[in-house]
Amino acid sequence: MNYGARFAAGCLLCIGLLGNPNVIVRAGPSFRRSRQLPCVFETSKISPLSKEAEIVRLNVRLLLSRTRSKDGQRSQPESLPPDNIPSFIVEDSSVGILQDANEDMDMLDCRISPYFTADTQIIWPSREIGASSSDSWFTCTVKHTAGKYTTTAFLVQAQEEKEDPNPGQLFPGIAQQSHFSAQFLVRTAPARLRSALARDVWLGCSFSTDHRAEVSIQWVLHQKGARRQRLFAYSGSSKQVEYVARRAEVVLEEIPKGNASLLLRNTEVRDEGTYSCLVTVASLTAEQTIQLQIEEKPTVTVNVNSLSLVEGEQHKLVCNIKHYYPHDIQAQWLREPKDPSKVPDVMKNVLSSSKRQSSNGTYSSSRYLLLTASLKDDGHKYTCWVDHQSLQSPIRRSVTVEVREAISTAWLLLLLSLIACLAGILCYHHKALVRSTAKPKPY
Ligand SMILES: *[C@@H]1O[C@H](CO)[C@@H](O)[C@H](O)[C@H]1NC(C)=O
Ligand SMILES: *[C@@H]1O[C@H](CO)[C@@H](O)[C@H](O)[C@H]1NC(C)=O
Repeated sequence: MNYGARFAAGCLLCIGLLGNPNVIVRAGPSFRRSRQLPCVFETSKISPLSKEAEIVRLNVRLLLSRTRSKDGQRSQPESLPPDNIPSFIVEDSSVGILQDANEDMDMLDCRISPYFTADTQIIWPSREIGASSSDSWFTCTVKHTAGKYTTTAFLVQAQEEKEDPNPGQLFPGIAQQSHFSAQFLVRTAPARLRSALARDVWLGCSFSTDHRAEVSIQWVLHQKGARRQRLFAYSGSSKQVEYVARRAEVVLEEIPKGNASLLLRNTEVRDEGTYSCLVTVASLTAEQTIQLQIEEKPTVTVNVNSLSLVEGEQHKLVCNIKHYYPHDIQAQWLREPKDPSKVPDVMKNVLSSSKRQSSNGTYSSSRYLLLTASLKDDGHKYTCWVDHQSLQSPIRRSVTVEVREAISTAWLLLLLSLIACLAGILCYHHKALVRSTAKPKPY
């Protein structure tokens, strides 16, 4: 998205709102309130020079009109800013493009592209079947950039537009202002999902059409370096489930309500990947994706809780980090200062074990710190600090260290000489006693 265009559109909108005393201006206009969104029109065309397909992009505006056009009388959106940005004016009929569109417009990425029907006539109830030309269809995809949802709507050009094409077309059928109606919409929410192991997760996919239609549904999993794996298939014409993978489930009674969500039971590490929900109505297929990421929190333990050492003694501190996923992890041994306002020292002489993988795909590893006790360590805490993407804040496990002074050699010599002295005195007295008892008695 071109920021210049976004900014310009945003500013024009602000000026528009400020100009109207009845509108309360709030920061970060939502798509629902403004009913318009900066968008990129994207198509490919064959370059006349290189004869190769090239992508053409154009900044446009998506504008949702409020009322249905009658007798060729268009509902003229008064809020159309006086600029040169081409507008896709869409009648939001019943499909609900604005569902959950309360977020700040800056969080939404919007793209409009032609939908190539490969010359098949799309039979749609509200559309007349033209003898000479078929309808031009477009897709409009609105993506929440933080992965809350993705919505794709199928747009078809309003009938009167085709009969009376405006001059100065940007693309066959696209003029400075073009009118469309939204006929069919598919939405995945959330578009990015995290799950721990052994959980049941709902991959949310919903759809709506402007009429009761036969809808076929497929779920497919794509993984890096693997072929597409089919998980579920439902045929709209036979109303039958044609395929369902182990651990996958779709509630059939929910399908007529526009709910094609897939329940994946007892998640495993190998379930990670991109899930596509494919919804087909009258040979229009919308493919919406959901990214599933498996995350499992580590359990962290240390081999001792407190240590009492004599100066100079060595002790191995072991931090065991177990059963986490994915395998990237940060782990350190820290020496905590007594003053809590100071930053801990990161220990350098730490050895790491290699990572071990369990049968459920989780990883385990250890960090070893060989501690040589010195008096200045007395009363300090050594902490194993672990951070991982599954954690909201790092895990800390501490060992309190107490160090006693060793008995010095000088003291030892003094002690030995004292003992020797004492022994000498004792010996002398003993001899004297023996001599005195050995004396012959005077009688
Ligand atoms: C779809 O149906 C399932 C099962 O009844 C339900 O849990 C889920 O919330 C529904 N989703 C939507 C978007 O209605
Ligand atoms: C993964 O496997 C290990 C070792 O078998 C086990 O201790 C751990 O609890 C398992 N994790 C989950 C989430 O099942």
